[in-house]
Amino acid sequence: LVRAFSTSLGRHSPIKTVAIIGSGLMGSGIAQVAAANGHTVTVVDQTDEIINKATAAIKKSLGRVVKKKFPDDPKAQQTYISDVMSHLTLQTDAKAAVKSADLVIEAIVENLEIKRKLFASLDKAAPPNTIFVSNTSSIPIRDIATATNRLDRFGGLHFFNPVPVMKLVEIIRLPETTDETFTALESFGKALGKKTVQCKDTPGFIVNRLLVPYMLEAVRLVERGDATPQDIDVAMKLGAGYPMGPFELLDYVGLDTTKFIVDGWHQRDPDNPLYRPSEILNKLVAENKLGIKTGQGFYSYNNK
Ligand code: 3HC
Repeated sequence: LVRAFSTSLGRHSPIKTVAIIGSGLMGSGIAQVAAANGHTVTVVDQTDEIINKATAAIKKSLGRVVKKKFPDDPKAQQTYISDVMSHLTLQTDAKAAVKSADLVIEAIVENLEIKRKLFASLDKAAPPNTIFVSNTSSIPIRDIATATNRLDRFGGLHFFNPVPVMKLVEIIRLPETTDETFTALESFGKALGKKTVQCKDTPGFIVNRLLVPYMLEAVRLVERGDATPQDIDVAMKLGAGYPMGPFELLDYVGLDTTKFIVDGWHQRDPDNPLYRPSEILNKLVAENKLGIKTGQGFYSYNNK
């Protein structure tokens, strides 16, 4: 059987071996897409239990991919899944994982100190030519990068949820990021079948800088009693062509994630009205109504 993937692996991409730290939604999504495009991928997380969960999530997502790729051909579906999984190792030793990596992608909890500690230790363990990136959505890349001695080989690589479906990767450049590093990240993004865009290290980069204030303003419409979440969602889907309305998207991304982003920006820039905290958002998060993942957010997900 002709190998069904690896066709798009950029011939010029110097990145072949990837270590991904963090196996959550983003980390496992990135791992899946990198492996599906012929890279050798190691995913690292803290416990075997977390790793088993991530493995199951990747297999489930691959199941969705193959249904579309090989409809009515269960054998090809199975071959593809096995082939992708054979490019993937999941384990708990970050230092060992980065030893042979061309690229290290960090997708762990959004906590600056934890990220800095991780990168400081990986900086010692990884070869000098290894490129480091963070997939952070809200923390300045520079604040993370200065924990290492490789600012020239450091950047941001920001993926979108669901990673196997969303076609964009934002590449964040520091003033120190070399052209060589940037080009390597660009060709890696292309090898993953994504379109890349470039942005400076500014809050939210491009997508979240626009998307988060938009979602917050939708919540403020409700807070002011101007319209219901249901009507706002219908309006933005049918009137603006968005695939999801802002409340569906808030539930999908996670209300805690959005609150975390807003709170961080508000702390750094308290006078910016776009980042003003929202009462409803704070209340729902305090009640652990975080969206789809907890079965309740702006909407109820009873089948969860
Ligand atoms: N893995 C693999 N495939 C998946 C998938 C996954 N996790 N999720 C969805 N898909 C596939 C489905 O198999 C389906 O394929 P098909 O069309 O060939 O059958 C296709 O995607 C569409 O999925 P569904 O039919 O289930 O549902 P929808 O048509 O409603 O699409 C959606 C789902 C792709 C999520 C779409 O609603 C969408 O694009 N929503 C907006 C998502 C968005 O804005 N994401 C960005 C969030 S912000 C972010 O991530 C930044 C962070 O920093 C916070």
